[in-house]
Amino acid sequence: MVSEDYKSMLNGKSVIRQMSEWAAKRGAEIGYENVFDYSLGNPSVTVPQAFTDKMIELLQTKNPMELHGYSQSQGIPAVRAKLAAYLNKTFDMNYTAEHIFMTTGAAGAIAHAVRVVTKPGDEVITFAPYFPEYQQYVNRTGAVLKIVPADTEAFQINFEKMEELLNEKTAAILINTPNNPSGTVYSTKTIQTLAKLLEEKQKEYGHDIFIISDEPYREIVFEGVDAPYVSKYYANTLSCYSYSKSLSLPGERIGYIAANPECTDAALISVMCAQISRGIGHNCPPSIIQLAVAEVLGLTAELSVYETNMNLIYDELVKLGFTCVKPGGTFYIFPKALEEDSVAFCQKAMKYDLVLVPGDSFGCPGYFRMAYCIDTEKVERSLTALRKFVETEYPRS
Ligand SMILES: Cc1ncc(COP(=O)(O)O)c(C=O)c1O
Repeated sequence: MVSEDYKSMLNGKSVIRQMSEWAAKRGAEIGYENVFDYSLGNPSVTVPQAFTDKMIELLQTKNPMELHGYSQSQGIPAVRAKLAAYLNKTFDMNYTAEHIFMTTGAAGAIAHAVRVVTKPGDEVITFAPYFPEYQQYVNRTGAVLKIVPADTEAFQINFEKMEELLNEKTAAILINTPNNPSGTVYSTKTIQTLAKLLEEKQKEYGHDIFIISDEPYREIVFEGVDAPYVSKYYANTLSCYSYSKSLSLPGERIGYIAANPECTDAALISVMCAQISRGIGHNCPPSIIQLAVAEVLGLTAELSVYETNMNLIYDELVKLGFTCVKPGGTFYIFPKALEEDSVAFCQKAMKYDLVLVPGDSFGCPGYFRMAYCIDTEKVERSLTALRKFVETEYPRS
């Protein structure tokens, strides 16, 4: 008999996927270039040529047994050592290879990180608006995801509400900065306040509370924005990174966990993750992709287009009367809808071939997300559709 549990999940398919499927269908009717598809967070800039060149060089020069062989369960030791050195230089940390665990993107990193610091029944706190897959990443481990309501003024952390959720069962805090969907970057002050609060609570409860810091957008930060490295401020931090967005490599499934060298059992986190892999049938990312990213540490795709797109959209939204926190990074913006029901709002937008995602699935109804990882030329054309949509459906008196 098939699992009723997983079967029931088929009825709760991701709204983002549904919107994107609609966009593809509509594209087949009117030409995809005429659908303003802001649904998916799929990078729109190509992987850097230097990365492709490295892959070719590896294929032409490396021993195929090494390139295509099994990787050690924690990842290739030389790759982990290079990564540790890179992080030390960039963020003034003290990692060694033993603190690094190679993963299949941020998803694989979070799935391991949650398991390594929780047991079934423990609670993990996150903050609305949040990446909807957190429900699966956390609740499927037997731990329970608790959601702090959004601070809609700035999309920083609502500490008052957070304190109401903290309790002896709290084992971890899952944060995402720069944030999907709000585009907000947590300030140094926010991270310091969070760290201080958690230090106090660790003492009060007499156990560790880990920060699991989900950082796939670490490099997509706009001009002048303060973007602290979370682990610098709190010892019990597991940084979960992915090359999906920074190098435009989501299909390659490559990322890592970096355990702060000062965290509890720092030397055990990576080896324990390798044990977790056995239980969930995850094995290390392919050797070739580990070797390739280690050759281009610090390299990114041409990310500046995202800031160009953000400015175009933000300015237009403000002109049209939207309430909107200006993003500090990522390729998302999260304005307030023009009616309370953001699902109805997004449905009306579809009449204008604008594909927007309601905030409900991010734990923040009344708002909507635009993933502006699309060509700037298309963003410019979409603004006409946006104006028409707003002026027709929500005329100002
Ligand atoms: C906030 C956040 N976390 C995790 C992920 C998963 O990233 P990956 O594709 O690297 O597994 C995504 C992907 O969009 C994301 O936006």
